[in-house]
Amino acid sequence: MKKYDFDELIERRGTDSLKYGICDEIFGTSDLMPLWVADMDFKTPDFIVEAIEKRLKHPVLGYWNYWEGYHDSILWWMNTRHDWSVEKDWIIFSPGIVPALGLCVMAYSEKGDDVLVQSPVYHPFYYAIESQERNIVYNPLIEKEDRFEIDFEDLENKLKKGVKLMLLCNPHNPVGRCWEKDVLKKVAFLCKKYNCILVSDEIHADLTMPFFKHNPTHLCAETDEEKANIITLMAPSKTFNMAGLATSEVIIPDFELRKMFIHLTHNVLHMFNGNVLGAYALEAAYSERGAEWVDELRDYIWDNICSMNVFLKENFPKIKTYKHEATYLPWLDFSAYGYSHKDLMHKLAYDCKIGFNDGMIFGKEGDNKMRVNVALPKRQLLLALEGLKYL
Ligand SMILES: Cc1ncc(COP(=O)(O)O)c(C=O)c1O
Repeated sequence: MKKYDFDELIERRGTDSLKYGICDEIFGTSDLMPLWVADMDFKTPDFIVEAIEKRLKHPVLGYWNYWEGYHDSILWWMNTRHDWSVEKDWIIFSPGIVPALGLCVMAYSEKGDDVLVQSPVYHPFYYAIESQERNIVYNPLIEKEDRFEIDFEDLENKLKKGVKLMLLCNPHNPVGRCWEKDVLKKVAFLCKKYNCILVSDEIHADLTMPFFKHNPTHLCAETDEEKANIITLMAPSKTFNMAGLATSEVIIPDFELRKMFIHLTHNVLHMFNGNVLGAYALEAAYSERGAEWVDELRDYIWDNICSMNVFLKENFPKIKTYKHEATYLPWLDFSAYGYSHKDLMHKLAYDCKIGFNDGMIFGKEGDNKMRVNVALPKRQLLLALEGLKYL
């Protein structure tokens, strides 16, 4: 028996939702179904909202301090969901994973240094590097039939030349890969070999599909030295639809690397504590109820992915789908239609009335590709996809 209702329609138009509110700016029209930015059209779980309400019953919202339950809930979650025994001291607050990426670039590299990414990749990876006048080094993923692989020969050649930092996306957004242990072992090995700090963005860790289990990069590294070279970024925000609460965790086991990061967050920016409501929400999320909710959510997302793939295969076989292993953001290839990317974007928005994420924002590999956000009630998703008949 399912406990949670992901079919419920929640009206988000006319609220403060970014996904619904800025379609005009993004697509040039708001007369479309937004299947873009990565938040979900499902309710944030009741037990999280209740935890916030409970905290609000106390009439003071002054400076606050971490309580034991906050850290315990993170340790419990990492242990039970990811088999990882994290130590309390390793955990540092960040208001988001994108801020944490920027902070890592700031803390561990200098202007003019090389920072490596695996394109196509979540676009703020590029901004974190470029906006701080570091050089982007590309290690493009290789498309093999219906999935993507890492080009290790190219990776090693690039690392050899003195890359300071690698920003890894594990699981990978936008191509939906849940990287395997041996792949991550090799990445961790090469980074340590060539003295490149490895930052592993694992925000989608909890959102793996059936038959796939997230592998924390830290656990896949073989030696203590390799493990010490890895910084992991995790958060309840994507998993529990609470991005508006700006609460994430950065996990840095190595004392020296942690000291450098803490210098920025504590001394330079004075942002060691976040929003108290976010902290209570995190504690409620990383719990047994949270685990039960996420398991139902993953089943629902998987059903949406399968339903979408069947629908596309039957009705729009020219659209290529990929093997999807993690995230609620599958990748689609429209090249068989033969449109220019610009015309494709225009047709999708104005004729089909669908607002997909433009594949090109993730890198030039995104030509004729789109990223779809399937975290919405299934009937809404299928209704939106019907618009593809106008392609
Ligand atoms: C790989 C990845 N990192 C980070 C984020 C966003 O992180 P935050 O909202 O915590 O800054 C996203 C959102 O989609 C993402 O896909």
